[in-house]
Amino acid sequence: MSAFSGHASSRRRFLEYLAASPLLACPSAFAHDDEAPGLATAAQAFNIFDLESAARRTLPVAHFAYLATGVEGDATIRANREGFTRFQIRARRLMDTSKLDTRVRLFGTEWPTPIVLSPVSSLRAFHPEGDIAVAKAAKARNHLEVMSTLSTASVEDIMEARGAPVWFQLYPTSDAAIARALVKRAEKAGCPVVALTVDNPTAAGRETLARARLVDKRDCATCHAPVPGTSFLRKSMFDGLDYTRLTTSLTDQLTWDFVKRLQDMTSMKVVLKGIVTAEDTAIALDNRVDGIIVSNHGGRGEESGRSTIESLPEVVAVAGGRIPVLVDSGFRRGTDIFKALALGADAVCVGRPYAWGLAAFGQPGVDRALQILRAELEVCMRSMGAPSLAAMRKGYVQRA
Ligand code: FNR
Repeated sequence: MSAFSGHASSRRRFLEYLAASPLLACPSAFAHDDEAPGLATAAQAFNIFDLESAARRTLPVAHFAYLATGVEGDATIRANREGFTRFQIRARRLMDTSKLDTRVRLFGTEWPTPIVLSPVSSLRAFHPEGDIAVAKAAKARNHLEVMSTLSTASVEDIMEARGAPVWFQLYPTSDAAIARALVKRAEKAGCPVVALTVDNPTAAGRETLARARLVDKRDCATCHAPVPGTSFLRKSMFDGLDYTRLTTSLTDQLTWDFVKRLQDMTSMKVVLKGIVTAEDTAIALDNRVDGIIVSNHGGRGEESGRSTIESLPEVVAVAGGRIPVLVDSGFRRGTDIFKALALGADAVCVGRPYAWGLAAFGQPGVDRALQILRAELEVCMRSMGAPSLAAMRKGYVQRA
């Protein structure tokens, strides 16, 4: 059965599964209490959570679980959301916000918005147009996009659809030759930045996904590689590479030595994705790293229980404006984005919000997710009396 047929039956199976599932007893990334009415169009989504509900209705059980899953009890996913409640916005009055300035400059390129698309693997598991639909939506609204090593379209095709350079996220694998080939291909295609992911050394215990796989009775072998962890076998960026020595696209051998080797092998700027502490920020600066993305992989790489919004201030303090600091994991509202920018982030990345939009409606869904987040950020800037990103940094947020 194709991944996109039988939505009604897959939904019924999902509800049966939930009724019998320990997920109900133990809150997880799956356990939402909303049963919002179905949406006919992307435009009907009021907020990002509506797109999540629509994606849940649309996707096969296991594919939705792949998006939803965290690690073990999904506590870090919840922590990412709860972290925002520990910061309050100090609204200023009588500020002229008739003209808002949301522009941001990253490595010499100016973007109209600080909202960036995080790399998300396997996008065709959510919609047949996958990475290309995402790139087209990013183009339409001129957002910076970071593509995944595990994309389901090549860097060349994504770049063509985006109509501008995208950043390339790197999983170096355990094979140096493959890492080099991936980096050289991205560089040749014109990517200005490589974002090395440092927070996902192993496929950590994704229980929410594992449970959903048990109840998804479709024939998955037609699309998936037979051996768990070898999903890279079908990924565009691995076409033509000799991956016979690889058993997984991840590696637990990554150290600062590789960062140095990466810098030596490429002219692209090197950004580290997944730094969450002052200590590692200091080491990154010592190693002349060009930028940092504060991230815990959307709560799917580790069960630290610590939110990225709470990790951000110590990273910003050490970075001290010398290199850009971006942040992701759990951002769903304009107010969340405002808080991070006010705490000193240069930009905020989102993963699931646009993937939910993609799953539910294809390109128009991605477009709607980006539109919602931009509109909410602008509303927040107006209501808090902050006309620009620079203004926001002047005492607009306090720890609760
Ligand atoms: C990811 N993420 C991710 N990160 C990365 O560096 N390379 C990758 O291939 C992927 N793939 C991926 C797949 C899926 C389904 C998800 C949900 C996430 C992590 C991603 O870049 C980002 O850090 C998180 O998605 C941010 O959290 P939110 O916005 O999803 O809460």
